[in-house]
Amino acid sequence: LLSVNEEGTVHVQQRARPRRNRKSEGLRSMVRENVVTPANLIYPLFVHTEGENVPIPSMPGCVRHTVDSVLREVGEARALGVRSVILFPKIPEELKTNAADECYNPSGLVPTLVSTIKAKYPDVAVWTDVALDPYSDQGHDGMVSDDKRGDGGCGRIMNDETVEQLCRQALCQARAGADVVAPSDMMDGRVGAIRDALDGAGFTDVSIVSYTAKYASAFYGPFRDALDSAPRESSNAPRNKKTYQMDPANSREALIEASLDVAEGADMLMIKPGMPYLDIIRRLRDATDLPLAAYHVSGEYAMMKAAAERGWLDEREAVMESLLCFKRAGADAILTYYAKQAAEWMNE
Ligand code: PBG
Repeated sequence: LLSVNEEGTVHVQQRARPRRNRKSEGLRSMVRENVVTPANLIYPLFVHTEGENVPIPSMPGCVRHTVDSVLREVGEARALGVRSVILFPKIPEELKTNAADECYNPSGLVPTLVSTIKAKYPDVAVWTDVALDPYSDQGHDGMVSDDKRGDGGCGRIMNDETVEQLCRQALCQARAGADVVAPSDMMDGRVGAIRDALDGAGFTDVSIVSYTAKYASAFYGPFRDALDSAPRESSNAPRNKKTYQMDPANSREALIEASLDVAEGADMLMIKPGMPYLDIIRRLRDATDLPLAAYHVSGEYAMMKAAAERGWLDEREAVMESLLCFKRAGADAILTYYAKQAAEWMNE
């Protein structure tokens, strides 16, 4: 490829020059393989029953919304093209129990908000999270046994008893008008059980987006601050979720979870967290033709905000690049706390 003539001038004989396709934005945008639009984004919103919005210190820019505020936020996001939201409630301590029965109270916070949002914005898809943790006085996604037969001599997270509660919860959310129920609990068999419960009650149109590959991750910390939902010291079970959420060391196991969720009737699969798990998104993309969603979780948001606040990252560039990389890895949809902000940038 290199030739040197008598005068010693170096000559490069290079025919293939990939840079030619990058020489102008016109060409770059013509050959661009992936693009993220506001319609790909799902906006997670924290809600509570108090009279004022309360900022979440570890998630600058995010608050726990009042009912009025969440309606405003959904309207603003919708105006920017974000057509899906997912609700996460902070439940008052006095309503929390081990069985988490508040999760299927038809006049509880989530069902009330679902019907309020659907009444005002029928074209916004409202997603609800299915798991016991916001309602659990143990801070676990499932009911905790009072024996000591579990991990490390602690109580167990009772799978089948929990699945029954999750079915009641999902049904209650469907009755309120939820478009999508998203089980995030990682109990075995919950997708099929929820599908049967929904179909049995006539909710054949309600979608199930399964948190298929949900890892026991340190990146959920700020979310648990926001809802005060972390596993409790007083719990009979361990102070982590490792007996039900997946081990970050594993990727083949994600394929097992995916094939079960597909067989049980999931409509879409989710991978969570996002950025450290792009390889899992790609593995599932190659294994199934169902749509995939990536969850850009609270800890990832917190890292970006912290770096941006210090001037160490260009927030806009870093966020837009991250969202694009989810697409490139194989995700169709992205849950991100940046949804509204990113849609604003996309609209500029
Ligand atoms: C509850 C739930 C969690 C998240 C979504 N649903 C926390 C957890 O499993 O502890 C985390 C979302 C985030 O960190 O942004 N089951």
